[in-house]
Amino acid sequence: MRAASIKDVANHAGVAVGTVSNVLNYPERVAPRTRSRVLASISTLGFVRNDVARQLRAGHSRTIGLIVLDIGNPFFSSLARAAEDAAADSGNAVVLGNSGHDSHRELHYIDLFEEQRVQGVLISPVADITQRLTALAERGTHVILVDSPAGEGAFSSVSVDDVSGGYLATKHLLGLGRRRIAFVAGPQHFHQVRDRLTGTTRAVGEVVGATLEVLQADDLTVLAGRAIGDALVRRERESLPDGLFCANDLLALGVMQSITMLHNLRIPEDVALVGYDDIDFAASAVVALTSIRQPTALIGQTAVELLAEQLEDPQTTPRSVVFKPELVVRASTNG
Ligand code: RIB
Repeated sequence: MRAASIKDVANHAGVAVGTVSNVLNYPERVAPRTRSRVLASISTLGFVRNDVARQLRAGHSRTIGLIVLDIGNPFFSSLARAAEDAAADSGNAVVLGNSGHDSHRELHYIDLFEEQRVQGVLISPVADITQRLTALAERGTHVILVDSPAGEGAFSSVSVDDVSGGYLATKHLLGLGRRRIAFVAGPQHFHQVRDRLTGTTRAVGEVVGATLEVLQADDLTVLAGRAIGDALVRRERESLPDGLFCANDLLALGVMQSITMLHNLRIPEDVALVGYDDIDFAASAVVALTSIRQPTALIGQTAVELLAEQLEDPQTTPRSVVFKPELVVRASTNG
C-alpha cells in the first residue's frame, strides 16, 4: 500500500492542496474548522510530510550535524544532550556523528552532513581541518567550533579556557603542600591536553622546589588511565608523585582504580588526585574525585545559539565564547 500523499489528504478533507500545505507550514493562516478537518484526514490516512521535497525547496533540512571526539566520554554525551534540547526549542533536530578521534571518520561525517544539507555543523575537530571547514562554509553550511577556540576567527566557537583549568588544578595540589606533581597527559595533538599542560607547567614554575613529571597515556579513556596507574603502583614509594593531575576524569578514574586496588597506597594521603570535566561519575567514584568542572551543558546550548545567529544573519561576524572552568574539591584531594 503506497504512502498517502498531500493530494490524498486534500481530496479526503475536501480542500485544495495549498490548504493542506498551509496547515502543515502556516497553521495560523487556516480557519480552525478547516484546520481540524485537514488534521483529521492526516491522521486517518497516516500521512507523513515529505521533508526531502520541503528541504529541496528551502535548501536546507531542519537538522543540525554535531560531530564529537568520543561519544563514550560523558563530557560529550552531556554536551550533545544540551545541544539537542536547545535545537528542539527551535524545531530542529541534532544528528550526531562520533569521530572516535579518527580524522577519516570525521571527514566522512562532514561529507555526509553536507550532502544532507544540514542547517549547520557543530564540530569538536580531531585535528586542524580549517581548509575542509572553510570549503563547507563557502558552499553554504555554517560551521561552529565546539570545545575548540577558533584560531584565526573564521568561525564562531565556544570553548573553555583550558590553560586556566590546568593552572587551577595544579595550584590546588600545590596548595595542599604537594611538590612532586605529575600530569597524566592524553595524546598531545589535542589542544585541550596541551593547554592543560601549559597551565600546569605555569603553576609548578611559580613554586620553588616543586617538580613536574609528564606521564603520557595513549588515549583519554579509563583503560588508558589504568595503564598509567598500574605502572605507578609498581614504583618505589619515594619515586612516586604526591600530586596527580589528569587531563580528563576518565584518565583519573582509571588511575584511581589502580591505586585503590593496591591497598598500601592511599588517595589523597599518599597521592592527591585531580581530574577534568567533572562528569557525573566523578562525584560517585570510590574516592569522590576532585575535578575541574566545564560548563558542559552551557557549551552545547551556546553552540546552537551561535549557529542560530549565523542562520538569522549570514553576515554575522563570527565570535568566540570562552568560558572559565571551576575547581570542585572532593575527597581525592581533601588531604
Ligand atoms: O576529548 C578530550 C577532552 O577534551 C574531554 O575529556 C574534554 O575534557 C574535552 O575538553
